[in-house]
Amino acid sequence: MKEINIAILGMGTVGTGVVKVLKRNESLWVKKCGSRIHIKKILVRNINKDRGFDLSPEVFTTDWQDIVNDPEIKVVIELMGRIEPARTYVLEALKKGKNVVTANKDLLAEYGEELFEAAKKAQKDIYFEASVGGGMPIISPLKESLIANNIQEVMGIVNGTTNFVLTSMSKEGISFNDALKTAQKLGYAEADPTADIEGLDAARKIAILASIAFHTRVKFCDVYVEGISKITNEDIEYAKELGYAIKLIGIGREEDNEVEVRVHPALIPITHPLSIVDGSFNAIFVKGDAIGETMFYGPGAGQMETASAVVGDIIRVIKNINMNSVGNAVCTCYDNKAIKSMDNVYTSYFLRLCVIDRPGVLAGITGVFAERGVSLASVVQKNYMKDTADLVVITHRVREKDIQDSLEIIKKMSTTKEIVSMIRVEGME
Ligand SMILES: NC(=O)c1ccc[n+]([C@@H]2O[C@H](COP(=O)([O-])OP(=O)(O)OC[C@H]3O[C@@H](n4cnc5c(N)ncnc54)[C@H](OP(=O)(O)O)[C@@H]3O)[C@@H](O)[C@H]2O)c1
Repeated sequence: MKEINIAILGMGTVGTGVVKVLKRNESLWVKKCGSRIHIKKILVRNINKDRGFDLSPEVFTTDWQDIVNDPEIKVVIELMGRIEPARTYVLEALKKGKNVVTANKDLLAEYGEELFEAAKKAQKDIYFEASVGGGMPIISPLKESLIANNIQEVMGIVNGTTNFVLTSMSKEGISFNDALKTAQKLGYAEADPTADIEGLDAARKIAILASIAFHTRVKFCDVYVEGISKITNEDIEYAKELGYAIKLIGIGREEDNEVEVRVHPALIPITHPLSIVDGSFNAIFVKGDAIGETMFYGPGAGQMETASAVVGDIIRVIKNINMNSVGNAVCTCYDNKAIKSMDNVYTSYFLRLCVIDRPGVLAGITGVFAERGVSLASVVQKNYMKDTADLVVITHRVREKDIQDSLEIIKKMSTTKEIVSMIRVEGME
């Protein structure tokens, strides 16, 4: 019976899950891919740590060269995270003729092109389903099942931590800090939550999705990013009253050969399917010229959920090995489209302005908007305090630069106390 040797780099949350799945369903692999799967090596930092598996001690190594220089190892699974040394190990593994499976969004969002070039040169496979959406399949559907489409938009919730925090704030009325503490206690947020909360994790994922959807290389540095740390319970309550939920959204959109890519909090109408994606779940809404609209929904992270995607990729590579068809999972970024400047992005806006409550103030503000072509869908005056009031404004679709210029002027007006919030609105018809 044929046996394929594989090696795993990194034995943390996902690495452990992958070994669990490989062991649990061991008897199925011959049926599913035509081979037994043998874990020949696992790269760890601490060789003495008990990993809780029935694996012989010789499996573990602290020397990555034991893996890349072993001609019997056919697939290397990179689950260490971050850029270096993962980048060096993956490039070397490809150079030495190994196929690669990785869950590493940081690496792909910055060095995707280099990795695909290396895989092409070596005529080997590189698969990365777990890098976006954890257990929710989105890479293969975009690359393969939806290939018939011209994709116009990918928009979604791609970070479980921020979705958990915003959901807790909205459903339980707790503060941002308390929601974050709960997320950390339950393991949904890391001790240092910056990458999640400030939108960096979501930006890496939307860069990967936009690259695939629009067939052009989009890097992490191309993405406009804003996190959720400034969202308050008042914003959430005002949004609810107006019929919206606030979500951290990643958006990739193509128009006239230009691609816009951004991550920021957004008001989503409660009639839109993304508005009801709660807790740590992820969802991606895709618009294509043949499919129309479709949505993918599932667990965005987690040990076994992510391992499900990684092992799926391992099986795919092994099938390719057995059918002599490795090296066909080529990069699909065959175009070179411009990235749209944020100034030229069109969307709607939710604005909260704290203003002096006296006649003529509203007219002054709407006059500034009108001069810049910013048309208003609704204006509500709320929360009267002694001599101030909150103006809550929703605009029609306007250019970002026109809103920013208007707000610069309004901020300096003597009748304006504060521009409290500016949150974009997405998902409107
Ligand atoms: N966790 C999830 O739910 C999830 C979901 C989707 C994608 N991912 C991605 O999956 C990858 C792994 O994530 P994770 O959550 O499993 O991370 P993790 O728990 O921190 O595990 C990473 C492991 O890699 C090991 N490692 C790091 N550098 C190493 C080196 N130079 N040599 C040997 N071992 C090294 C670490 O060893 P030490 O224990 O010694 O530090 C750790 O055990 C990341 O790219 C992540 O973005 C994770």
